Amino acid sequence: MTPPKGTDSSLECAIILAAGEGTRMKSSLPKVLHEVAGRTLVGHVLHAVQGLSPQQIRVVVGSGREKVEEHIAAISPKAVTVFQEKRGGTGHATQLALAGISPKGSVLVLAGDTPLLTTQSLSQLISFHHNGGFSASVMTAEHPDPTGYGRIIRADDGSLLRIVEEKDATDADKIIFEVNSGVYIFDGALLASAITKLTANNSQGELYLTDVLEIMRQAGGEVAAALIDDYVETLGVNDREQLAESGAYLRDRINSDLMRAGVTITDPTTTWIDATATIESDVTIYPGTAILGNTTIKSGAIIGPRTTLESCTVLEGARVVESNCHEAVIGKDAQVGPYSYLRKGTKLGSGSKAGAFVEIKNSTVGDGSKVPHLSYVGDAKIGEGTNIGAATVFVNYDGVEKHETIVGDHVRIGSDSMLIAPVTIGDGAYTAAGSVISEDVPPGAIGVGRSRQRNVLGWVLRKRSGTKSAEAAARHAGSENGHKRG
Ligand code: UD1
Ligand code: MG
Repeated sequence: MTPPKGTDSSLECAIILAAGEGTRMKSSLPKVLHEVAGRTLVGHVLHAVQGLSPQQIRVVVGSGREKVEEHIAAISPKAVTVFQEKRGGTGHATQLALAGISPKGSVLVLAGDTPLLTTQSLSQLISFHHNGGFSASVMTAEHPDPTGYGRIIRADDGSLLRIVEEKDATDADKIIFEVNSGVYIFDGALLASAITKLTANNSQGELYLTDVLEIMRQAGGEVAAALIDDYVETLGVNDREQLAESGAYLRDRINSDLMRAGVTITDPTTTWIDATATIESDVTIYPGTAILGNTTIKSGAIIGPRTTLESCTVLEGARVVESNCHEAVIGKDAQVGPYSYLRKGTKLGSGSKAGAFVEIKNSTVGDGSKVPHLSYVGDAKIGEGTNIGAATVFVNYDGVEKHETIVGDHVRIGSDSMLIAPVTIGDGAYTAAGSVISEDVPPGAIGVGRSRQRNVLGWVLRKRSGTKSAEAAARHAGSENGHKRG
């Protein structure tokens, strides 16, 4: 027995229409694969839909099919893709999505280019639909500039009559500000039947999904329009300006949510945080900062100004200033920057430091160890309590292969050391400043890898006479020739 109307709140199927060409993007990338706030456009829509736990998700793909299918398989493996070879309109795309399935429950249909839609609003639409016992419900919005959208035509009593596309609209229709968001929820069985009755009798010669509402109404069903509070959620992306606009709205939304959850963001207009990042309360973020990918930041950390973190983990109390970090783990109370570049595989221990003009990749820096100035550390394991002197280079690349350097605990690497990998510096060892270290240094030893200094006395007076240097040197003619013979 079919349940009485209005009691079944489950969502059987969500259909995402994403076959359009997106010509106005002027891009070799399919429109729905363009990114804002760390997700593709279709990724945002899938994320919102997944929050509803539908039994199945079907995505209609067309333009750039292979790339879109590959992306959907990666981010939403259970979603089924349906191929629309030629654009036949939103009604045609929905027909294809429904082919071979006979939905008994509710079916949600929406577009793949509306990244601002939230699970919450979709869920409100579904409740509206079920509570009213409607055959179909459409989400509408009062848009300040309705140009281009389908207009909502209501009867005198406010009930929904039909939707008229801009291209088919009369002047009287065009002054209506309530528009079709392109999000609908249908009784699946009624949709499957009504969708077969569509005709392309319109100015674009396409099958319009919007006409299904009128077909259902004329067949005696009740169709309804649910006006959303904030039209911004329904904004679609058709060109790069709208891409930037929706990105800015997402930025504001993400920053507001974080601030409400206890994160300090001193300048939300210049702070760009991906929807995929996780930031705990009592983190402080200074201006000009981007926090991207699956970055996690623990409580008490201070980030910025002007810092980019991409897929990093930053632990409690760490401080990252004016730096660029990718796939790095920054330990508790560690300090990074200003002007550090931490690359993939960097692991900084608790209380450690990567200072000014330091680049580190694929290396571990142990607890309390410091790389304070002007250094490159690549493919290294550095123990605890070790200090790497200024301008040290871990020479990891022999021109063909990369090699590893091991540095023990409480080591003192002298400034301007070149550590030629593979090489091991034992616990408690030193290297003399300016050394080229190509052999292992045993624990407790000092490695000296440089030639002894030689002073050629009187050289400037002889070879550079007449220069300021020679003049300055001449003032010391006596002392300079301390060893002067005869
Ligand atoms: C559609 C609605 C309009 C609404 C607007 C909201 C219709 C007839 N019109 O118009 O009332 O105000 O969305 O943004 O539905 N698509 C396919 N295959 C097709 C055609 C479209 O997959 O053959 C996809 C597109 O990729 C897009 C979505 O369906 O994601 C909407 O198509 P679009 O061409 O943007 O429709 P609009 O003209 O904007
Ligand atoms: Mg559109």
